[in-house]
Amino acid sequence: MIQETLVTTQNSAGLAHIAPMGVHLHDDGFIIMPFRPSTTLDNLLANPVAVLNYCDDVRVFAGCLTGRRDWPLLAAEKINAPVLTCALAHTETEVVRVEDDAIRPKLFCKAVHTGNHAPFKGFNRAQFAVLEAAILVSRLPMLPMAKIESELAYLRIGFEKTAGEREREAWGWLMDAIGAFKNGEGR
Ligand SMILES: Cc1cc2nc3c(=O)[nH]c(=O)nc-3n(C[C@H](O)[C@H](O)[C@H](O)COP(=O)(O)O)c2cc1C
Repeated sequence: MIQETLVTTQNSAGLAHIAPMGVHLHDDGFIIMPFRPSTTLDNLLANPVAVLNYCDDVRVFAGCLTGRRDWPLLAAEKINAPVLTCALAHTETEVVRVEDDAIRPKLFCKAVHTGNHAPFKGFNRAQFAVLEAAILVSRLPMLPMAKIESELAYLRIGFEKTAGEREREAWGWLMDAIGAFKNGEGR
Protein backbone atom coordinates (compact mmCIF):
# COMPACT_ATOMS: atom_id res chain seq x y z
CA MET A 1 0.00 0.00 0.00
CA ILE A 2 1.12 3.52 -0.75
CA GLN A 3 0.10 6.47 1.43
CA GLU A 4 0.24 9.98 0.00
CA THR A 5 2.08 11.95 2.67
CA LEU A 6 4.04 15.15 3.03
CA VAL A 7 7.62 14.23 3.85
CA THR A 8 9.55 16.82 5.84
CA THR A 9 13.33 16.67 6.04
CA GLN A 10 16.16 18.97 7.05
CA ASN A 11 19.59 19.54 5.51
CA SER A 12 22.83 19.67 7.48
CA ALA A 13 22.54 23.48 7.77
CA GLY A 14 19.11 23.05 9.42
CA LEU A 15 17.05 24.18 6.40
CA ALA A 16 13.65 22.44 6.26
CA HIS A 17 12.19 20.91 3.09
CA ILE A 18 8.60 19.75 2.42
CA ALA A 19 7.73 17.36 -0.44
CA PRO A 20 4.62 15.33 -1.29
CA MET A 21 5.71 11.69 -1.55
CA GLY A 22 3.88 8.40 -1.93
CA VAL A 23 5.33 6.38 0.95
CA HIS A 24 5.23 2.58 0.59
CA LEU A 25 4.21 0.56 3.64
CA HIS A 26 6.69 -2.29 4.06
CA ASP A 27 6.52 -4.87 6.89
CA ASP A 28 6.17 -2.60 9.92
CA GLY A 29 8.14 0.24 8.32
CA PHE A 30 8.09 2.63 5.36
CA ILE A 31 9.96 3.12 2.08
CA ILE A 32 10.47 6.64 0.74
CA MET A 33 11.26 6.55 -3.00
CA PRO A 34 12.41 9.91 -4.39
CA PHE A 35 13.18 10.26 -8.10
CA ARG A 36 16.62 11.76 -8.69
CA PRO A 37 17.39 14.65 -8.51
CA SER A 38 15.64 15.29 -5.20
CA THR A 39 16.21 17.64 -2.28
CA THR A 40 14.43 15.09 -0.05
CA LEU A 41 16.98 12.45 -1.11
CA ASP A 42 19.93 14.81 -0.55
CA ASN A 43 18.60 15.73 2.90
CA LEU A 44 17.95 12.10 3.86
CA LEU A 45 21.50 11.10 2.91
CA ALA A 46 22.95 14.01 4.94
CA ASN A 47 20.53 13.81 7.91
CA PRO A 48 18.85 10.36 7.81
CA VAL A 49 15.53 11.20 9.48
CA ALA A 50 12.14 12.22 8.06
CA VAL A 51 8.67 13.09 9.28
CA LEU A 52 5.68 11.59 7.45
CA ASN A 53 2.90 14.16 7.82
CA TYR A 54 -0.69 12.93 7.37
CA CYS A 55 -2.48 16.04 6.26
CA ASP A 56 -5.92 16.83 4.79
CA ASP A 57 -5.05 20.42 3.82
CA VAL A 58 -4.42 19.72 0.16
CA ARG A 59 -3.12 23.26 -0.35
CA VAL A 60 0.23 21.97 0.97
CA PHE A 61 0.38 19.26 -1.73
CA ALA A 62 -0.65 21.68 -4.49
CA GLY A 63 1.50 24.46 -3.01
CA CYS A 64 4.69 22.39 -3.05
CA LEU A 65 4.10 21.62 -6.73
CA THR A 66 3.53 25.29 -7.59
CA GLY A 67 6.34 27.03 -5.72
CA ARG A 68 4.50 27.59 -2.41
CA ARG A 69 6.69 25.65 0.01
CA ASP A 70 6.53 27.96 3.01
CA TRP A 71 4.12 26.20 5.43
CA PRO A 72 4.19 26.52 9.24
CA LEU A 73 6.42 23.98 10.98
CA LEU A 74 7.09 22.75 14.52
CA ALA A 75 10.00 20.79 15.98
CA ALA A 76 9.59 17.00 16.10
CA GLU A 77 9.64 15.15 19.41
CA LYS A 78 12.42 12.61 18.81
CA ILE A 79 14.28 13.56 15.62
CA ASN A 80 15.97 16.51 14.00
CA ALA A 81 13.35 17.29 11.34
CA PRO A 82 10.26 19.52 11.26
CA VAL A 83 6.56 18.61 11.58
CA LEU A 84 3.85 20.43 9.62
CA THR A 85 1.52 22.25 12.02
CA CYS A 86 -1.45 21.32 9.80
CA ALA A 87 -0.77 17.55 10.14
CA LEU A 88 -3.67 15.57 11.61
CA ALA A 89 -1.04 13.05 12.68
CA HIS A 90 2.63 12.46 11.99
CA THR A 91 5.22 9.70 12.22
CA GLU A 92 8.86 10.44 12.96
CA THR A 93 11.17 8.01 11.17
CA GLU A 94 14.84 7.08 10.92
CA VAL A 95 16.45 5.69 7.77
CA VAL A 96 17.71 2.17 8.49
CA ARG A 97 18.84 1.12 4.99
CA VAL A 98 19.38 2.72 1.58
CA GLU A 99 18.98 0.75 -1.63
CA ASP A 100 20.70 2.96 -4.18
CA ASP A 101 19.42 3.33 -7.72
CA ALA A 102 20.31 5.64 -10.61
CA ILE A 103 16.66 6.66 -11.06
CA ARG A 104 14.77 6.04 -7.82
CA PRO A 105 16.64 4.98 -4.66
CA LYS A 106 14.73 3.29 -1.83
CA LEU A 107 15.09 4.64 1.70
CA PHE A 108 13.85 2.09 4.23
CA CYS A 109 12.66 3.83 7.40
CA LYS A 110 11.45 2.76 10.83
CA ALA A 111 9.04 4.70 13.02
CA VAL A 112 10.45 6.13 16.24
CA HIS A 113 7.45 8.22 17.32
CA THR A 114 3.87 8.93 16.22
CA GLY A 115 1.76 11.89 17.28
CA ASN A 116 -1.98 12.46 16.81
CA HIS A 117 -3.19 16.04 16.69
CA ALA A 118 -6.69 16.27 15.19
CA PRO A 119 -9.43 13.82 14.12
CA PHE A 120 -9.72 12.44 10.58
CA LYS A 121 -13.00 13.86 9.27
CA GLY A 122 -13.73 11.47 6.41
CA PHE A 123 -12.91 11.13 2.74
CA ASN A 124 -13.51 13.99 0.32
CA ARG A 125 -13.59 13.64 -3.46
CA ALA A 126 -12.26 17.14 -4.08
CA GLN A 127 -9.20 16.39 -1.96
CA PHE A 128 -8.61 13.25 -4.04
CA ALA A 129 -9.05 15.32 -7.22
CA VAL A 130 -6.48 17.87 -6.03
CA LEU A 131 -3.96 15.11 -5.22
CA GLU A 132 -4.43 13.55 -8.66
CA ALA A 133 -4.17 16.95 -10.37
CA ALA A 134 -0.97 17.66 -8.37
CA ILE A 135 0.50 14.39 -9.66
CA LEU A 136 -0.42 15.45 -13.21
CA VAL A 137 1.36 18.78 -12.62
CA SER A 138 4.46 16.90 -11.39
CA ARG A 139 4.44 15.01 -14.73
CA LEU A 140 3.59 17.88 -17.10
CA PRO A 141 6.72 17.49 -19.25
CA MET A 142 6.22 13.70 -19.51
CA LEU A 143 2.50 13.40 -20.38
CA PRO A 144 0.62 14.33 -23.58
CA MET A 145 -1.61 17.41 -22.97
CA ALA A 146 -4.65 15.51 -24.32
CA LYS A 147 -4.28 12.92 -21.53
CA ILE A 148 -3.90 15.64 -18.88
CA GLU A 149 -7.03 17.39 -20.15
CA SER A 150 -9.13 14.22 -20.27
CA GLU A 151 -8.07 13.27 -16.71
CA LEU A 152 -8.84 16.79 -15.46
CA ALA A 153 -12.29 16.65 -17.07
CA TYR A 154 -13.06 13.53 -15.03
CA LEU A 155 -11.53 14.84 -11.79
CA ARG A 156 -13.49 18.09 -12.14
CA ILE A 157 -16.82 16.21 -11.69
CA GLY A 158 -16.15 15.13 -8.10
CA PHE A 159 -14.21 18.30 -7.41
CA GLU A 160 -17.12 20.61 -8.33
CA LYS A 161 -19.59 18.61 -6.22
CA THR A 162 -17.56 18.44 -3.02
CA ALA A 163 -14.85 21.12 -2.79
CA GLY A 164 -14.52 23.60 0.07
CA GLU A 165 -12.44 26.79 0.17
CA ARG A 166 -9.07 25.09 0.71
CA GLU A 167 -9.64 22.65 -2.14
CA ARG A 168 -10.71 25.46 -4.53
CA GLU A 169 -7.61 27.48 -3.73
CA ALA A 170 -5.35 24.44 -4.27
CA TRP A 171 -7.12 23.52 -7.53
CA GLY A 172 -6.71 27.11 -8.78
CA TRP A 173 -2.94 27.02 -8.22
CA LEU A 174 -2.68 23.76 -10.14
CA MET A 175 -4.83 25.00 -13.04
CA ASP A 176 -2.69 28.16 -13.23
CA ALA A 177 0.45 25.99 -13.41
CA ILE A 178 -1.06 23.89 -16.21
CA GLY A 179 -2.15 27.07 -18.05
CA ALA A 180 1.37 28.56 -17.71
CA PHE A 181 2.91 25.32 -18.99
CA LYS A 182 0.56 25.37 -22.00
CA ASN A 183 1.61 28.96 -22.71
CA GLY A 184 5.23 27.82 -22.69
CA GLU A 185 6.06 29.57 -19.42
CA GLY A 186 7.03 26.31 -17.61
CA ARG A 187 6.36 26.16 -13.84
C1 LIG B 1 0.61 12.92 -4.23
C2 LIG B 1 2.02 13.04 -4.74
C3 LIG B 1 2.91 11.99 -4.55
C4 LIG B 1 4.24 12.08 -5.00
N1 LIG B 1 5.10 11.05 -4.79
C5 LIG B 1 6.40 11.15 -5.17
C6 LIG B 1 7.33 10.11 -4.91
O1 LIG B 1 7.01 9.07 -4.32
N2 LIG B 1 8.62 10.31 -5.32
C7 LIG B 1 9.02 11.46 -5.95
O2 LIG B 1 10.20 11.60 -6.28
N3 LIG B 1 8.15 12.44 -6.22
C8 LIG B 1 6.87 12.34 -5.84
N4 LIG B 1 5.98 13.35 -6.11
C9 LIG B 1 6.47 14.57 -6.77
C10 LIG B 1 7.29 15.39 -5.80
O3 LIG B 1 6.55 15.81 -4.67
C11 LIG B 1 7.89 16.64 -6.42
O4 LIG B 1 8.33 16.42 -7.70
C12 LIG B 1 9.04 17.07 -5.54
O5 LIG B 1 9.20 18.46 -5.63
C13 LIG B 1 10.38 16.48 -5.95
O6 LIG B 1 11.10 16.10 -4.87
P1 LIG B 1 12.09 17.04 -3.99
O7 LIG B 1 11.24 18.17 -3.46
O8 LIG B 1 12.59 16.10 -2.94
O9 LIG B 1 13.20 17.58 -4.87
C14 LIG B 1 4.67 13.26 -5.68
C15 LIG B 1 3.76 14.32 -5.86
C16 LIG B 1 2.45 14.20 -5.42
C17 LIG B 1 1.51 15.35 -5.63
